[in-house]
Amino acid sequence: MVPQSISYYRIQQQSFETMVERSKNARYLHYYSSLLLDRRDAKEVRLFNMFPKIIEKYISLFEQTKKDVNQIRRKQLTTSSLFVVLTVGVFGYGFYWFTNSVRTGALEVGVLLMFVSVIGYISTSMARVVEDSSLLYDSLLWIEKYFNFLGYQDDFKNGTQSFPDDFNDINVKNLSFTYPFSDTEILHNVSFSVKSGEKVAIVGENGSGKSTLVKLLMRFYDPTNGKISVDNYDLKDINIFDLHKNLSATFQDFSRFKLTLKENVITGYSFNKDRVNNVLKAAGLGDLLVNDHLNLNTMLAKDFENGTDLSGGQWQKVALARDLYADGKIEFLDEPTAALDAKSESEIYQRFLKENDKKTIFFVTHRLSAVRFADKVLFLDSGKISGFDTHTNLLHTNPKYKEMYDLQKNAYL
Ligand SMILES: Nc1ncnc2c1ncn2[C@@H]1O[C@H](COP(=O)(O)OP(=O)(O)O)[C@@H](O)[C@H]1O
Ligand SMILES: [Mg+2]
Repeated sequence: MVPQSISYYRIQQQSFETMVERSKNARYLHYYSSLLLDRRDAKEVRLFNMFPKIIEKYISLFEQTKKDVNQIRRKQLTTSSLFVVLTVGVFGYGFYWFTNSVRTGALEVGVLLMFVSVIGYISTSMARVVEDSSLLYDSLLWIEKYFNFLGYQDDFKNGTQSFPDDFNDINVKNLSFTYPFSDTEILHNVSFSVKSGEKVAIVGENGSGKSTLVKLLMRFYDPTNGKISVDNYDLKDINIFDLHKNLSATFQDFSRFKLTLKENVITGYSFNKDRVNNVLKAAGLGDLLVNDHLNLNTMLAKDFENGTDLSGGQWQKVALARDLYADGKIEFLDEPTAALDAKSESEIYQRFLKENDKKTIFFVTHRLSAVRFADKVLFLDSGKISGFDTHTNLLHTNPKYKEMYDLQKNAYL
């Protein structure tokens, strides 16, 4: 009986997993947990503080699924109990008949066979009882899954300082950076200073370290050497949630969250219908809402119930709307327009810069069509600062910059 129990517990564990897998909520549960662990989505999940909302969604769906699964299990328990009662009855009658036959001398091979099969029945039924007693094991599995999920934590050291209300400048001093688990230094002794409200274009060839610098400025990584500070506060000393509240961004590999349009836009912030509609319009998605099939509660994923997918261009606009909704004091645009031609990119950047006069804006581009709108250009060359000046000055003082500009110039005309 003991080895049998163990094997049933194992089967139970598997059937539990299958039941969870098969449940219609399973895909959502998987998706929510993957959101917190997926590298691609991690940037925006962290920046826009989406943790609490995702966990809340996970827990409520989890409770629902648990209820559903337990309901099925209870049904199974009732069925198998009935089975046992029935079998005992049959066994009892069989036994009576068997002994009676022996007594009257009418025992035949057929009766013996029947008796054996009744015993087989009994043992199966008993096994079922064991299986059902492992319902408790079910709950333990749930609890384990749940705590594994809650136990997920970032190995990030958080600061206690709040982000300065009105900061004067952002300073980067002797910053070098090597990605974790890598031997190659990507940024080498980078130093520069940006005043509040300045618009800075970060330019350089692919692989020169532009995105890496942006990730460091947003504290997705800490510098290997040197430091980044806002006024006199080291970025590491500023509370990460407060820091992220003051930043907003659109990335080249922006997230396409399998959530509703509304959730995609408001992320971790509270819902304000007018503001959502405004940013959707500003991002160029006004038409999308006029479309009958789409509203703020539409699920943006084809594989989810009543969901629909968007085109690449529309997703890009959703990412921009999300960025606008977060409304940080410091804005980062890391080539979200890479899929567009140089002229459209230039137009988008121009509009963005004009409409956000007070914000400090870093915009990354490997194309120089938009640099004219920047107060300053930070020119990165293989992880080093090759120049940091106005576009006009750089054209005069930096031959490499001039060469790059001249090479690309024809594309903008
Ligand atoms: N997560 C990472 N781990 C290791 N190396 C990376 C990682 N991300 C980028 N790199 C490397 O860092 C260098 C700079 O990349 P990146 O900052 O993305 O350049 P850019 O944005 O200018 O095109 C590249 O050589 C790239 O391969
Ligand atoms: Mg990049």
